[in-house]
Amino acid sequence: MECIVVPVAAALVLLNGPAGFGCAGPQPLDVAIDPADELAYATALDATELDSRKAFIQWMSAERGLAPDAVVRADAQISESRNPFDARRDRRAVSRGAVLYKVHCAKCHGEDTRGEGPATLAGHPASNFKSPLKRLSVTLFGGAAGSWFRAIRDGKGDEVEYPLGATAAMPPFAGELTREQIWLTITYLQSLDMYAPAKTDD
Ligand code: HEC
Repeated sequence: MECIVVPVAAALVLLNGPAGFGCAGPQPLDVAIDPADELAYATALDATELDSRKAFIQWMSAERGLAPDAVVRADAQISESRNPFDARRDRRAVSRGAVLYKVHCAKCHGEDTRGEGPATLAGHPASNFKSPLKRLSVTLFGGAAGSWFRAIRDGKGDEVEYPLGATAAMPPFAGELTREQIWLTITYLQSLDMYAPAKTDD
């Protein structure tokens, strides 16, 4: 069942409901993540002394059988306004996005994406991606992907003092993540739990 046909007022209620008619995504991290992706990124982070760009480039280089330089050149060709991944169909991109989200974003936006992670500062909550308005906009048109890309790349909000230093409340990730990494985290945020596979016991 597609959720787009639900009238807007009803949708706002349903999106928040327990089952949420499948619109209440993003999927829980443990459902979205393929353990092989989590292991591959952890291994690459280890090998690069936690350099998140390098680690991802190394991972994709092995995955695609390309030289690291070629991965970097391909990344520079990726659009900064249009997500190259389809959160509704591309389970692998959702899994990789969830891995990246878990490592780089969950400490502020929360494991459950509600914006209440342990690293947030009082008075500067991180955006809640489960809010009814966010889910409605994701369900209808994928959310504000272009402006989310800019927020992640350039940072957003007031200048604040985190334990590691002063930055915008939403710190800029331009130097830390490739374009592809940024789009993958957005792909995870765009995913809906209606597209989650059934859990198996294997
Ligand atoms: C150190 C805490 C922190 C981390 C880490 C963090 N964020 Fe944020 N983020 C915030 C805060 C706080 C805001 C709200 C900024 C404001 O006041 O507008 C925010 C806002 C955003 C927004 C803008 C949402 C909107 O509606 O405009 C996006 C998108 C976002 N974060 C995505 C991410 C992603 C993806 C990551 C991981 C790569 C991440 N954030 C990591 C704290 C964080």
